[in-house]
Amino acid sequence: MEKKLARRRRLVLVPAPAQGHINPMMQLAKALHLKGFSITVAQTKFNYLNPSSDLSDFQFVTIPENLPVSDLKNLGPGRFLIKLAKECYVSFKELLGQLLVNEEIACVIYDEFMYFVEAAVEEFKLRNVILSTTSATAFVCRFVMCKLYAKDGLAQLKEEELVPELYPIRYKDLPSSVFASVECSVELFKNTCYKGTASSVIINTVRCLEISSFEWLQRELDIPVYPIGPLHMAVSAPRTSLLEENESCIEWLNKQKPSSVIYISLGSFTMMETKEVLEMASGLDSSNQHFLWVIRPGSVSGSEISEEELLKKMVTTDRGYIVKWAPQKQVLAHSAVRAFWSHCGWNSTLESLGEGVPMICRPFTTDQKGNARYLECVWKVGIQVEGKLERSAVEKAVKRLMVDEEGEEMKRRALSLKEKLKDSVLAQGSSHNSLDDFIKTL
Ligand code: UDX
Repeated sequence: MEKKLARRRRLVLVPAPAQGHINPMMQLAKALHLKGFSITVAQTKFNYLNPSSDLSDFQFVTIPENLPVSDLKNLGPGRFLIKLAKECYVSFKELLGQLLVNEEIACVIYDEFMYFVEAAVEEFKLRNVILSTTSATAFVCRFVMCKLYAKDGLAQLKEEELVPELYPIRYKDLPSSVFASVECSVELFKNTCYKGTASSVIINTVRCLEISSFEWLQRELDIPVYPIGPLHMAVSAPRTSLLEENESCIEWLNKQKPSSVIYISLGSFTMMETKEVLEMASGLDSSNQHFLWVIRPGSVSGSEISEEELLKKMVTTDRGYIVKWAPQKQVLAHSAVRAFWSHCGWNSTLESLGEGVPMICRPFTTDQKGNARYLECVWKVGIQVEGKLERSAVEKAVKRLMVDEEGEEMKRRALSLKEKLKDSVLAQGSSHNSLDDFIKTL
């Protein structure tokens, strides 16, 4: 008699439309697919991820909306996400209704910034779960910022002082955004902190990295919180890059000496002033170190000359190599790479820690500031460069990490952390067990 195949249970995943959010959501999708679930990915037209061969097992559906394409750029991430939420609430509900005609849905997992999903899902009484793609500490900081704002509008705060019970976070490290007013950030954060009917929160972090923030969240939210990261180490990460990765930098790295290169990348939306880029180039030059630098198209503002000309001007030495976008995980895993100059986005932070690569931290906005503080003061594998970016500061930081004994010590600590992270995703590791516990609830 023909054996009836067990039906795979379907999960609907809703990533936020940004590279740093799509990557961990797709890594989670892959982990859950490997555990036997069918996956539907619901995305908007913004930063649309093309289903590549790596993702061909997933169903992709589009959440209809009528926002102009220019909104993503013109509004800045905060205001854009608030507008997107208002626009998508009804259309997402209709989309879910259509999906439910064909099949049951075991759970809807949504990025913390796609909070409109919670209200839409509630009508169908579906299980829903929040995926936090930022750190547990960033989640806590958003809570704290909302509370402080409610108390006195954040007016009296002394920027340099530590936030009580949140060591090493100072008031100035709270996740305000250079793209939005405090009011706008707080409005967004209130929504991302609202658990509503969510049955749990899964976080792309590791228990041992931020135990106190994890416990704080567990108490405050009063629903299960599962630290299941680093997701890119838990599965072989699918290719989810929105920009084309320039593989030639790997060939260039192959020609460099072991542990001799500093990799520089500021993530998917950080901007730099032309002046800063030139100071950086000059500091790198005088440090005498080899460097691989990612300069995204459109990421240099205030340029009087074209980006192309600027780059030509900067690479006057064969010690440097510049690309528009790199296969970052491969770069960080390369034996020639000794250090990472980063904006400290959470994915970049986890990817660097996962390869035992110490960092120079130059946070730009939001959660990156808190990540930088943890790298420098808690895990002690980073050096933060604060204030105006000048040639001498660049040179000094690069030498501290690449040449000095201090850098050697950081490298040793980073390698030891790497082992802890590797263990966490292996059988019986904390993240591995956490993911299993989460799956049992589905
Ligand atoms: C922002 C926030 O700062 C971050 O903390 C939040 O979690 C997501 O949004 P972003 O600027 O995208 O992040 O940085 P990051 O989180 O580091 O993510 C960037 C991703 O792009 C990483 O996965 C990185 O590997 C990838 N990348 C970056 C490349 O593949 N190639 C590159 O050249 C640069």
